[in-house]
Amino acid sequence: MMVSKNVYIHTIGCQMNVYDSERIAGGLAPLGYRQVSEPESADLVILNTCAIREKAEQKVFSFLGRMAGLKRKNPELIIGVGGCVAQQEGRKILDRAPYLDLVFGTHAVSRLPILIQQVESTGGRLVDVALSDTIQESPVYTDSPILNQISRFVTIMQGCDNYCTYCVVPYVRGREMSRSPERILSEIQALADSGIREVTLLGQNVNSYGKKEGLCDFSDLLSRVNEIEGLLRIRFTTSHPKDLSDDMIATFSRLDKLCKHIHLPVQSGSTRILSRMNRKYTRDMYLEKIARLRESCPDIAITSDIIVGFPGETPEDFEDTLSLIRQVAYDGLFAFMYSDRPNAPAANFPGKISEAEKSERLQQVLCLQEILTLEKNQFLVHSEQVILVEGLSQRMNTHETSSEASPQWYGRTPGHKIVHFPETERLSASGNIGRLKTIRIEKAFSHSLWGRPVSQEE
Ligand code: SAH
Ligand code: SF4
Ligand code: F3S
Repeated sequence: MMVSKNVYIHTIGCQMNVYDSERIAGGLAPLGYRQVSEPESADLVILNTCAIREKAEQKVFSFLGRMAGLKRKNPELIIGVGGCVAQQEGRKILDRAPYLDLVFGTHAVSRLPILIQQVESTGGRLVDVALSDTIQESPVYTDSPILNQISRFVTIMQGCDNYCTYCVVPYVRGREMSRSPERILSEIQALADSGIREVTLLGQNVNSYGKKEGLCDFSDLLSRVNEIEGLLRIRFTTSHPKDLSDDMIATFSRLDKLCKHIHLPVQSGSTRILSRMNRKYTRDMYLEKIARLRESCPDIAITSDIIVGFPGETPEDFEDTLSLIRQVAYDGLFAFMYSDRPNAPAANFPGKISEAEKSERLQQVLCLQEILTLEKNQFLVHSEQVILVEGLSQRMNTHETSSEASPQWYGRTPGHKIVHFPETERLSASGNIGRLKTIRIEKAFSHSLWGRPVSQEE
């Protein structure tokens, strides 16, 4: 009989890493590894890492420091590091952390079960950071590590060919490669059959899906996902503005399951900085796409990423970013201070901005967006929003939700805004979670909405 062992998987970074961690769990299950929620009870610890900014990389080494203590107590413990920092640093991580057993790169996820078996039998220290030019598929994992999970990520393409000058992704994830539509569709069907109601399709630039390989294009893929029985909602991320076509824009009003939300990272509002970033669009081209999106789909929610303090960013360039944010009036923003990445060309660009100045600019962006988000949310008061119910909030009653002192249900609008609503009907969790429900919005806060159910929908 197979011995049951415990694996603890810690994930840092983007949704792609979350997806890869699920594949890791799926690949290890046949070896007898069961997922546990704390490293203390694990026989195997896997750390899935991110290299996008220096801070993310620092998290890796502080987590590994903690694991060193565990290994002293339990020398049998196997520790493996995967993901983008593993890809970037390779063997160097073994030197830096002598208690590590395994370093595996972003293309080695499907080989992980074999690598672990090797470590188990030989006790050797292994490194596998080979990048291949074909997609490495692994079995679909439908077992949900989170109870009542209704939403999952599905990577449809890996890597990136865009080489934005600040970015490490092309170096740590390799060349852009799309998975076949058949594999993607059968994976999503399997997820839907297991109770998943929403999928988010992932790629660094989903708008170029299938182009290189001559597969179907992204809007065709979406049309086919839209047909999947049992699935209620489709989301995707990320769109590169340069590749957002009119056909893709029209898809938002054409497909009933596709949420009317686009994450369209602009990075900067200054054409001069955009060119130094190698983004391949100007401020005007970006604004033009926004106008077309809103023309075709007036209630679409638009979110973005901003980098402040890119090398050479003058106060005027930064002012252009603020004015673009005001002009677009985003529903939400992720803003980051520029961070030098060892492999990325911008690390050698002149005109570095001080940490203090970057932090000041970041605060300005965040303050501006806080006001805009609240305005956007207030605009939704009195509207009816169809939300996908995700669960019952643990928080009983906070000033954010309402004056009603009872647990609140929560879910998201198509635009990805969190809505809380009271438990008016006597519905069990299994009867409510994963269903679409129409809510009339009564209150708006800066990070959520609150309302009451209008009717039950299927
Ligand atoms: N492929 C996506 C982005 C993936 S990385 C796209 O092109 O939009 C997610 C975000 O991290 C980026 O949009 C960018 O805003 C930020 N980012 C990437 N590299 C960075 C760096 N070196 N410093 C600061 N932020 C960075
Ligand atoms: Fe990085 Fe640019 Fe590729 Fe996005 S498109 S992953 S920012 S190189
Ligand atoms: Fe980080 Fe790698 Fe994603 S660098 S953002 S985990 S692709």
